[in-house]
Amino acid sequence: MTRIKVGVLASGRGTNLQAIIDASESGKIDADIVVVISDKKDAYALERAKKHGIPAYFVDPKGKSREEHEKEIDEILRKYNVDLVVGAGYMRILSPWFIRRWYGKIINIHPALLPSFKGTDGQGDALRYGVKITGCTTHFMDELPDHGPIILQAAVKVKDDDTRDSLAERILKVEHQLLPRTIQLFAEGRLKIEGRRVKILPGDSWKEKYETYPDVLYCEGY
Ligand code: GAR
Repeated sequence: MTRIKVGVLASGRGTNLQAIIDASESGKIDADIVVVISDKKDAYALERAKKHGIPAYFVDPKGKSREEHEKEIDEILRKYNVDLVVGAGYMRILSPWFIRRWYGKIINIHPALLPSFKGTDGQGDALRYGVKITGCTTHFMDELPDHGPIILQAAVKVKDDDTRDSLAERILKVEHQLLPRTIQLFAEGRLKIEGRRVKILPGDSWKEKYETYPDVLYCEGY
């Protein structure tokens, strides 16, 4: 099977990036991470990329319009012939211009069960709201933040004594499963967008192949 080329956008410490680098290097996914781009100069995600010999770019948003900033990002992604763009903790809203250029080839991971708790603190917002179950979601990006067609979801229980960080930590472990699985489904050509719904074409199941957490509910397609 031919391997797809993935470009990653990340603003932070990059544990999701690490999960997909590891999945790529171990052959769990038919994808190579060919470039990592950050809007934050000191994002640890850039260090992680360098450690694995992956080109890492800081694209400074300062003094630029959103489109100017994104044009630079777009040029880098095209230079590396990226097949799929992955938002892995990228905390900047992308413009309709950028999204239209990549629609169907740009995905994101969010630490809540969308459409609940969009935004930059999905875990804290879920805890404060008092939900008993939250989780994480991968989705195709569209012109509205945290809104595009949903690919995979997994549900995580909120415990009585959870803090924002303990909950975030449990969700993160599941994110590290969902994101590589989503990339693999894309690489296998098994994701079909039908309006708001994403049909997952038949094939293998990671539930049967790899470890899962007994108290997490994984959606069909995982
Ligand atoms: C992850 O929890 C990701 O879901 C979240 O940021 C974190 C990045 O962690 N993304 C969002 O909240 C997007 N709205 P990481 O840098 O360790 O991968």
